[in-house]
Amino acid sequence: MMDFPPRPTRLAQQMVGEWLCEGDVAIDATAGNGHDAQFLAGCVGATGRVLAFDVQEAAMRSTSDRLREAGLDERVEFHLASHARMAEFAEAASVAVVMFNLGYLPGEDHALATEADETLRALNAAACVLKSGGLILVVCYPGHAQGADESACVEQWMNGRAADGWRVAKYSMVGTKAPAPFLMIARKP
Ligand SMILES: C[S@@+](CC[C@H](N)C(=O)[O-])C[C@H]1O[C@@H](n2cnc3c(N)ncnc32)[C@H](O)[C@@H]1O
Repeated sequence: MMDFPPRPTRLAQQMVGEWLCEGDVAIDATAGNGHDAQFLAGCVGATGRVLAFDVQEAAMRSTSDRLREAGLDERVEFHLASHARMAEFAEAASVAVVMFNLGYLPGEDHALATEADETLRALNAAACVLKSGGLILVVCYPGHAQGADESACVEQWMNGRAADGWRVAKYSMVGTKAPAPFLMIARKP
């Protein structure tokens, strides 16, 4: 039976699946084990392109192995680099979707989690490379100290975009004992 409500990561993929078209360019800003990169590569089709970023070699290896096994690796550029550098690899106003799944890679060093300042730099870069009508999706984990601070920064950044005329939404469970992971989505005007 499906989780209810759907996890933020699943909700993000559902929304992206309805948004992306064959031939689009999409970015997985936190490649991890490559689940989102594989999903994006399926959505953009053979004529599309996915740029996947991660700072951990183990994550890049895991992502490229997954994409190769799925026969989708030719659609993906793998960048062992911070997502804050995405504007060096994608043209301004060319990208349809940028996905972030913050935090750390399960089973790996928790010290290699995303960090608020770098995430904010990456969000600003994402806003530049995104085309008009494109989406930025961020799954945030406020349930631990570092994640709480980062989640608050992301929400503040999103509020700023809403004030600039972007359409912004937040999806979260309510009534949980610990702060629940949440999804934020912003559409560029
Ligand atoms: C929760 S995991 C992502 C899971 C992934 N989306 C998947 O589908 O398997 C978060 C990832 O962000 C990566 N990360 C941390 N700082 C980063 C940065 N500055 N730029 C890019 N990736 C970063 C971590 O190495 C980790 O692999």
